[in-house]
Amino acid sequence: MSIPFKLDIELHVNGIEYPVTIDAGRNLVSVIRTEIGLTGTKEGCDDCECGACMVLLDGQPVNSCSYLAAQAQGRTIVTIEGVMHGADLRPLQRNLLEAGGVQCGFCTPGMIISATALLARNPSPTDEEIRIGLSGNLCRCTGYVKIVEAVARTAAG
Ligand code: FES
Ligand code: FES
Repeated sequence: MSIPFKLDIELHVNGIEYPVTIDAGRNLVSVIRTEIGLTGTKEGCDDCECGACMVLLDGQPVNSCSYLAAQAQGRTIVTIEGVMHGADLRPLQRNLLEAGGVQCGFCTPGMIISATALLARNPSPTDEEIRIGLSGNLCRCTGYVKIVEAVARTAAG
């Protein structure tokens, strides 16, 4: 049986440095939610399958359930709270709501993170490219059509 040891690290999340003391084996999603208190990032399968825990790490979408918090030190982390703009909805968020792409909402933060990364690297994706870009995010409610529509609408401006 391994003995957990503590690490003092700093995580750069949404433009703020957070000093945290954690067990070395803690995953990033649990530290973001529990130590840092940002609960918009969801924990679903905890096994790199559903995408609910997606955050941006140096601009790339990463399943934070399968990423050690200690490995994220020195990197730029953006959570769903960092993508949002105060009380104002960003166009992607508004389009998701208007298109009916949000039902229970559990997948929505991860979807927005993946779609944000997709639109940053490909501002005019085809529907096929949107589906590929969101293929790491599972949604049990919407059937994906309305989510793809919302991303396409956002790309069209
Ligand atoms: S909770 Fe991380 S992929 Fe499902
Ligand atoms: S809206 Fe419920 S899982 Fe996607």
